[in-house]
Amino acid sequence: MSQMMIRLFVCMMAVTTMNASGMGEERILTFPNGKTIKYRAYETIYYVSNVVDSTYQYLNYYVPESAYENRNVPVFLKTNVGGYMAAKAAAPSPTDATGRALQEGYVVVIPGARGSNATVLQPDGATVYTGRAPAGLVDLKAAIRYLRSNDASIPGDKERIITDGTSAGGAMSSLLGATGNHPAYESYMQELGADAGRDDIFAAVCFCPITDLEHADMAYEWLYKGTNAGVRGLSTEQIAVSEELAALYPAYLNSLELKTPDGTVLTDVNYRDYLKTFLIKSAQKAHDAGADIPAETGIVLNQGRRGSTGEFVIDVDLDTYLEYVVKRQQLKAPPAFDPLNVLENKASPENSVFGDHTGNAVNFTGFSLQKATNNPSAVMDTELKDRVWLMNPMNFIGDGISRTAQNWYIRHGAADRDTGFQIPVNLATKLINHHYNVNFDLVWNRGHTGDYGLDELFAWIKEITTN
Ligand code: DHB
Repeated sequence: MSQMMIRLFVCMMAVTTMNASGMGEERILTFPNGKTIKYRAYETIYYVSNVVDSTYQYLNYYVPESAYENRNVPVFLKTNVGGYMAAKAAAPSPTDATGRALQEGYVVVIPGARGSNATVLQPDGATVYTGRAPAGLVDLKAAIRYLRSNDASIPGDKERIITDGTSAGGAMSSLLGATGNHPAYESYMQELGADAGRDDIFAAVCFCPITDLEHADMAYEWLYKGTNAGVRGLSTEQIAVSEELAALYPAYLNSLELKTPDGTVLTDVNYRDYLKTFLIKSAQKAHDAGADIPAETGIVLNQGRRGSTGEFVIDVDLDTYLEYVVKRQQLKAPPAFDPLNVLENKASPENSVFGDHTGNAVNFTGFSLQKATNNPSAVMDTELKDRVWLMNPMNFIGDGISRTAQNWYIRHGAADRDTGFQIPVNLATKLINHHYNVNFDLVWNRGHTGDYGLDELFAWIKEITTN
């Protein structure tokens, strides 16, 4: 090849890959067991044309060597959002699902997203908060559109995008799964200069999703109120707030018209029994794997002969179980999610993420707003109400408008007290009721963490992506 042809060839290569990412950089990821994997890193790729916050609105993507031969591999998109704060784009980690996804040969994408603490200094010296909800979600949706519109230069099958996140990130993953292509986000997308096109995904992996925020306070108190005067140790004033909130939950729960697998309609009357089925299944799975199930959990084992048909879990005393959870970790005080200025409480992550661009945190439920302002007829403004609505996946499942992800993997620790168990249970149940493919477990003895059980998760991903 002549010098000129070589130069022309190199130049063409650059042009074909340039618009998305340049040539990338070769890297090696080393796992705790000493294994390594070679991959190329493509970083700091802005995914909107009107960048509001250059610290966050870009993505990184990573391509294992094997994906250059077989480009049609799944795309594993992890969000590192936590605490409803901003998260930067990041590199794969050998100790979470991103490293494992690379090992499986998948393209890994880790976008940044704005959140409650994202700020930009204006030329006039003012600090503007750029990341108030639904900004973080809109960013992630824009990142997904970017992957699709740059399909030719970014390897990976954009019809098999799998999102993953934990806690607030689990909520984001559930929202990405629930709200695909929904027009309600379009004005936000256009403002950012996001690519036109689809932002629906193939599968959502959600670890301990902290979501359904406007009902999370009442759900929490309804579940845990039996511990208020005992192990939870609330004051008289707190108990009064707890009981008021708890009393609001049945109307909401019943309005969901969720059904058990056998078609029974779930109500506040039979719901505790339904919840018990997940705890029993959880304890059984742990017991089968050799875990010791202490009596203080309220789990009841039958007295079958060991080694024959085996012991199995036949029941759980729910009040005892809930006390056990509370003894492990102090509950949040009521209201758990919208506490701002109620009983002199400070702002939660949720109060902040729904706040305004000047940095103020706000109440985002009518209940707390009325308590905080000492005005029983105070109402939330519609702009805020709309933003709260946009952040709840429950509003979009089965709405006939969204293209909701076909596949869902939802895990929530059976000892996680960051939100009520109803939040993940209702999410999973609504999805099942609408015939989505759902793999859901409360995981025995687990607190508020994510990206665990990776063998099980990636076996499931293999199952849904192999046809
Ligand atoms: C997270 C945890 C919470 O308890 C909460 O209310 C919001 C977010 C988190 O870990 O992301």
